[in-house]
Amino acid sequence: MSTTTRRGLFLTFEGLDGCGKTTQKRLLAERLRQAGERVVETVEPGGTAIGSQIRRILLDPANDHLDPRAEMLLYFAARAQNVAEILLPALERGEIVISDRWTDSTWAYQGFGRDLGTSLVQDIDEIACRGHKPDLTFLIDIDVETGLQRAHQRNAGASAAETRMDQQSRAFYERVREGYDTLAVAVPERVVRIDGHGSAYEVAARVWAAFEKFRRAHGR
Ligand code: TYD
Repeated sequence: MSTTTRRGLFLTFEGLDGCGKTTQKRLLAERLRQAGERVVETVEPGGTAIGSQIRRILLDPANDHLDPRAEMLLYFAARAQNVAEILLPALERGEIVISDRWTDSTWAYQGFGRDLGTSLVQDIDEIACRGHKPDLTFLIDIDVETGLQRAHQRNAGASAAETRMDQQSRAFYERVREGYDTLAVAVPERVVRIDGHGSAYEVAARVWAAFEKFRRAHGR
């Protein structure tokens, strides 16, 4: 990341659908605010008004013929807008940005899940994110079975407009999981695995411990 915009901190949450990362992002943001930090929360896909329009295309079950490359580029288009509108301005103000998903999702879901490969994802990330990468990523780790069960429960009560990605096969989610495993091994200095089983508060305590460890190690 360039030094001119390096005043803030960029944290991301990753994991399979239903892993509980959205709750964890909220709990971490609350705790940081209570500690007096200025925190900006964002989400992928979405986060901006334009990103939300792109999100509708991506998650609409009517778009079941969306080409995998078109899908990947749309995720990156939403992200490029997020970088310009939310991430960079907040980092320049010295704030903490916490995103629910980022490029690691594209690595796992499109690179592995859709079998597009990771070098394509890395190349386009350079263009969309201009070399900006998270400082620390919490990978909330659950088994595929638990994730699918939780995601299906959630969708039973949710609008039918956002279910396209949740209708993928179990084999797809196994590949996504493999993608996350590979990532955690490839960049252990950035990606910390957090056991996602147990209550939200138990998981939040693990997230906080990992964050404190990161802060001590980096003097931030
Ligand atoms: P969402 O309803 O936000 O699910 P979750 O709460 O699990 O994040 O839907 C986002 C879906 O989009 C989810 O299935 C993961 C998928 N996704 C990708 O396939 N690639 C990406 O780059 C991103 C950010 C998300």
